[in-house]
Amino acid sequence: MPKKLFVIGVGPGSPKYVTDIAKDAIRKSNYIVGYKYTLSTIESIIDRSRQQVLDVTMKTQEEAYQDVYSKMKDGEYCTVPFTGDVNFSESEVVDRLLEIFGDDNVEIIPGISSIQVAAAKSRVPTDKALVITFHVTGDIEQKKKDLLQAVRDKRSVILLPRPWLRDLTKHFMQSDIAKFLRENGIDTSKLRVWVFEHLTTDKETVFQGFVKDLEGKDFSDLSAMVIDQVKRQTYLEF
Ligand SMILES: C[S@@+](CC[C@H](N)C(=O)[O-])C[C@H]1O[C@@H](n2cnc3c(N)ncnc32)[C@H](O)[C@@H]1O
Repeated sequence: MPKKLFVIGVGPGSPKYVTDIAKDAIRKSNYIVGYKYTLSTIESIIDRSRQQVLDVTMKTQEEAYQDVYSKMKDGEYCTVPFTGDVNFSESEVVDRLLEIFGDDNVEIIPGISSIQVAAAKSRVPTDKALVITFHVTGDIEQKKKDLLQAVRDKRSVILLPRPWLRDLTKHFMQSDIAKFLRENGIDTSKLRVWVFEHLTTDKETVFQGFVKDLEGKDFSDLSAMVIDQVKRQTYLEF
């Protein structure tokens, strides 16, 4: 039996959003390697007396994945948990894990994304919106164009902004997004918006207003934004 990896989504923060199948994967694992915030979501499921837990950062993760992979014996399991859904805005890391462990030895278990919780709270269905993440290391110019086009097309947008404090030219948070839309001819004083911080946790906040109001406002890194242009349409209309 080869070394096995579970790559799992554990929801946006509340342990109530951790699925049973994700819990099974965690319990089955000899190693758990994750970011501090993600680990805190699953703390009550982890048993530190029999599982080795590694708290990593963007800087230390590569060494940790390689170290765990080399320590693991055949037939052992490792879990790498991700906040929200592992299939949304995590591929830069997931692709590396697939490379290290090999596709056939990795099981990906989806979770509930912060995007889905934001959709639920704003009543903007994901199928009526452009769902987009700016929380990537790579270039976001095409994504900015897609955002602008969606707004011009009267579509809603559910997005994750990009915090980048070490290089403010790469920072693309709510205030930058509002300015970008205004500078590209959008009347942001009429564009409805929601910003959700710390979703599903006891620090959760909701801002509801117009995109123009976001200029000069700071929000947490842990935030999701919804540009709401939804027109409700029920089955009675068809
Ligand atoms: C690398 S992305 C990961 C997204 C995650 N895979 C998901 O499906 O929610 C990290 C970003 O997700 C968003 N996020 C994650 N958890 C959140 C929460 N509890 N409340 C608001 N936004 C959250 C924030 O924008 C955060 O900077």
